[in-house]
Amino acid sequence: MCGIVGYIGPREATNIIFEGLCTLEYRGYDSAGIAVQSNGHIERRRAAGKLSNLQAVLSERPIAGHRGIGHTRWATHGKVNETNAHPHRDCTGDVVVIHNGIVENYLPIKEMLRAEGHNFISETDTEVLPHLIEHYLKQGAPNLEEAMRLMLGDIRGSHAIVAMRAQEPDVLVAARLGNAGGVVVGYGENEMFVASDQPALLPHTRSLAFLEPGEVVVLTNNNARYLKIDGTPLEKSSQTVAWDPISAAKGGYKHFMEKEIHEQPRSLTDTLRGRLSIEAGKVELEGVTFTPQEMRDFKKVTIIACGTAWHAGLIGKYLIEEIARIPTDVEQASEYRYRNPVVDPGTLVLSITQSGETVDTLEAMSEAKRLGARLATIVNVIGSQADRVSDSKVHVQAGPEIAVASTKVFTGMIADELMLAMLLGQARGTLDDARARELIDGLLKIPNLAGDLLADETIYDHLASQLYEATDMLYLGRGINYPVALEGALKIKEISYIHAEGCPAGEMKHGINALIDRTLPVVCIAPKDRLYPKMLSNIEQVKARDGMVIAIATEGDTELRDKADEVIYIPPVDYLLSPLLTSIPMQLLAYKVAVRRGADVDQPRNLAKSVTVE
Ligand code: G6P
Repeated sequence: MCGIVGYIGPREATNIIFEGLCTLEYRGYDSAGIAVQSNGHIERRRAAGKLSNLQAVLSERPIAGHRGIGHTRWATHGKVNETNAHPHRDCTGDVVVIHNGIVENYLPIKEMLRAEGHNFISETDTEVLPHLIEHYLKQGAPNLEEAMRLMLGDIRGSHAIVAMRAQEPDVLVAARLGNAGGVVVGYGENEMFVASDQPALLPHTRSLAFLEPGEVVVLTNNNARYLKIDGTPLEKSSQTVAWDPISAAKGGYKHFMEKEIHEQPRSLTDTLRGRLSIEAGKVELEGVTFTPQEMRDFKKVTIIACGTAWHAGLIGKYLIEEIARIPTDVEQASEYRYRNPVVDPGTLVLSITQSGETVDTLEAMSEAKRLGARLATIVNVIGSQADRVSDSKVHVQAGPEIAVASTKVFTGMIADELMLAMLLGQARGTLDDARARELIDGLLKIPNLAGDLLADETIYDHLASQLYEATDMLYLGRGINYPVALEGALKIKEISYIHAEGCPAGEMKHGINALIDRTLPVVCIAPKDRLYPKMLSNIEQVKARDGMVIAIATEGDTELRDKADEVIYIPPVDYLLSPLLTSIPMQLLAYKVAVRRGADVDQPRNLAKSVTVE
């Protein structure tokens, strides 16, 4: 989950690396550090805490030089302090390394190196890497490239690693093992870049190449040479990506999360653009390469995902089962990958992931592929590992999402699921043209309706002033809005640290009712749909126990206005489309409460955007 940046070229490396790290701080913000080659040796600057602390260190003690590496850390092994901050170095300071991943066998390696006389300073697993490189150089490896390859052969786990050596001033070496996160190479003019994620490189170049697991790259000022870990040379060409770095900046909003919530009319428009034809009643998803016959042959869909993407997946189950009539399971990837799942060629495994780099999701995909499933993905980051390994793909097209708490990509994922379900339904004959036109017509109206919902935030400011001291909250929903309740609870937990639970409203009577009293705010998602009467009686049950009800209701619903303590209205919309709108109040409520509590909205404690550890 750590952020990685490297640079080699004619410009001052420190600035470029620091700016790159700023775009990646969402990946980890426990500590940060930079190492730059200066006057024949490598100098390091590191600081615990956010990048602003490193910036202060750098402005007191700048480093001039044209080659360097930098890292933002999300702590796994070892406390959050400067000693454990990357880059880590060998005994002499000749070799420095930045790393994302966990060296699973670092203890025996450390013991072996200690016995040889190596001196360890930090508590991290990463520190064995520069020492192991030093070990192989001493044993006669001719250069960093060879020593790195030998080192890679010794370590277990998934890794992204960049190393440099004072005695070889013209190269940077980077490698990827497994799925601990991406390694992206950026091609400039007489300069080269490497990073864990594209946003660090986009201000400098759009010409990128991606390392696959088991690949190494040797970078010089004007060249990238690729090889496999066993030394076999590889041909790899760069590709041009279209993302606009400007849209990743805050653009006048106080937080990225606020900006991303407000971007939804545009991100949903982009997600739908060019994919729907109302006249023909057809959906076109360019990345879905399954033939109609293959789509007819699917016997089962298994959705795998983590976190917010898993909630999107739960909504996907309702959509795929209702529209395409394929039995669908939704699995947390971290559980799926260690089970013994039943998979056959009739199984479509659909991964859903913003980053396309979540290690559990990637490993679950590999396992599914190994067992014979067809792979599809709904993914936001184009060129990510999930994107590259899938047979079929539907891009979210929401642009970069920076805030740790996912918002615009969540609604984009739902829109993609709906379109995929429609494509499958049309191929399988379970979706007729009239219903398809109805859904397309409804979908095309969603961006504007989302814009209307976002236009007035008065109710959320009012609610935040009532709820900001709550210690617990409950979120209830039914049917397709049950996963929205789970997502609402997750949003408030993630960014305001209020304990919250999401529950299917029909399950309250089996335990949750015991929690309800005057102090418990209960968010009830109750649009006028097929489950409305049931939801209404659940709300009665909460009120009978003095709970405070905040209802999400359809415009014009006077009954709920009288029953609930507070009501947030959404426009009337088709049942299957309703999560696209009901999730917006969940996001705004969590955001406003977190701001009122003074929380660090974009970088909540202990979390990270891309989770590349197990
Ligand atoms: C982290 C993020 C969540 C995200 C989850 C899965 O926990 O904070 O917002 O939903 O990872 O990430 P993915 O990139 O696979 O969607």
